[in-house]
Amino acid sequence: MTNINYKRRQFIQYAATSTLAAAIPGSSFARTQGSNMTPNPSFKADVEIALNAQTADVAILPGPLTHVLKYTGKLLKGPASTLRELPGYLGPIINFEQGQKVRIYFSNQLPEPCITHWHGMHVPQPMDGHPMYAIHRDEQYLYEFEVTNPAGTNWYHSHTHELTAPQVYQGLAGLITVSDENERKLGLPSGEFDVPLIIQDRSFSSNNQLRYILGMHQRMRGFHGDVILVNGQKDYTIPVKTRAYRLRILNGSNARIYKLAWSDGTPITAIGTDGGLLEKPQNLPYVMLAPAERVELWVDFSGRKPGSDITLQSLAFGDSSSHMGGGGMRGGMRRGMGGDGMGMMGAPFGQDEAITIAKFQITEQISDSPKLPETLIPMPRFTLQDITHPDKVVPIAIGMRHMSFQLNGRTFDMYDYMESEQIPVNSIQRIKIFHDNRGMGGGMRRGGGMGMGMMMSMPHPIHLHGQQFQILSRTQIDQNSGYETVKHGFINSGWKDTVLVMPGEEIEIIKPFNDFKGFFLYHCHNLEHEDMGMMRNFYVS
Ligand code: C2O
Ligand code: CU
Ligand code: CU
Repeated sequence: MTNINYKRRQFIQYAATSTLAAAIPGSSFARTQGSNMTPNPSFKADVEIALNAQTADVAILPGPLTHVLKYTGKLLKGPASTLRELPGYLGPIINFEQGQKVRIYFSNQLPEPCITHWHGMHVPQPMDGHPMYAIHRDEQYLYEFEVTNPAGTNWYHSHTHELTAPQVYQGLAGLITVSDENERKLGLPSGEFDVPLIIQDRSFSSNNQLRYILGMHQRMRGFHGDVILVNGQKDYTIPVKTRAYRLRILNGSNARIYKLAWSDGTPITAIGTDGGLLEKPQNLPYVMLAPAERVELWVDFSGRKPGSDITLQSLAFGDSSSHMGGGGMRGGMRRGMGGDGMGMMGAPFGQDEAITIAKFQITEQISDSPKLPETLIPMPRFTLQDITHPDKVVPIAIGMRHMSFQLNGRTFDMYDYMESEQIPVNSIQRIKIFHDNRGMGGGMRRGGGMGMGMMMSMPHPIHLHGQQFQILSRTQIDQNSGYETVKHGFINSGWKDTVLVMPGEEIEIIKPFNDFKGFFLYHCHNLEHEDMGMMRNFYVS
């Protein structure tokens, strides 16, 4: 994408906005570009935040500062605990309470367009950060919404047309927590014992600047960096006491998938997924975490010796039988790869060896710890009986044409939707996400030709805006040897807004589309895929 090309497209897009806005039913679309959105006087905000997107130079590695894009926030009204700054490039952690009315003055101070999306939050369409609302430098976008989500961990990030991947990569992201009454009754670890872990991979030049190399292969696979950062820091180490902690983990990486496990084989105890707390804690040997997914863990360091440590790792996974062309550099973690070598031609997905994510150092012995609750939050289960049109299944077909990924045979177009993408408001839909391999000859699908086999056998984290959904079924219809290495790491029982669709896998979900009309995106959250057009609108009306 050249700059000129980009600007021209932007121009066409903005030129189209006014006429289309008028043509689209639902006056919510009628918004004039620029900084003239005035607060709604009847919306009595409990919390007001000024949020800026700007450039900054921050310390990440020893030596020169790194030039980044960064959200900075200022609390104008509301509880002092609403914003929590993190050192580095990440935006402040925003702590919401269920029921709060929130007003956010978002101001773009970047020399390029930008818009912000509240990933996981159920908000009206004009507040959702659809790329059609991107603003230019020195313009302001006003968000007003009520926090209706239950307690859980969400996040915010830029969602700018064809710039989401580079903007998020350069820093435009931050965590959101929501708390509520039901959660407080559980007495989960809080305060210093409630720890956010935002995992991202980055790549640096020799003078500490972020490198974002996108040759064709890296574009197809999505960016993989060779340095793991947690909360924006390298070699992340957390001093802990001998008691239980709550970890809120977000995979904020552009494309890298993690297989999280404890270094000493202690099972993972999950207490929450994307949309909030589980019905009850669930033990797994490891948990798969794809871009944009969140998982909340309970970890108890009671009984461990001060001076000892335990690390959260990402274990090796993937298809070990297909080491063609590159000697197994599938993780892209090997030095000198720069992430765009031949190695990935035979590398559909995965990671070659265990890597360290974060180290927990036991520093202090204490005798008191909360106990893991047996049950957490009741979860009403959707069944097929709840679906508004039982015989209708909304398709999300993952496909590929002309070296670009598609959904339902099309790439993103700002205001475009098809009949199958029209959803009645206040309905509950059954949605089937599957790989559409039509047009891929059998010979092409297994590593033939231009690496087509690899392309077709990629995992895709599919995200749907709006309300959280439930997973109805996961079916492996096309055996893929890599699946064995990941299959025990999926949590299918919780509320989700992003689901990792493995090669050969078909996933059915049930999702409500309540309260709000308008365009709600669904897309691959491999951000390079998203920017190349693996995104579509649902038109809820
Ligand atoms: Cu986190 Cu549409 O994105
Ligand atoms: Cu989202
Ligand atoms: Cu994808």
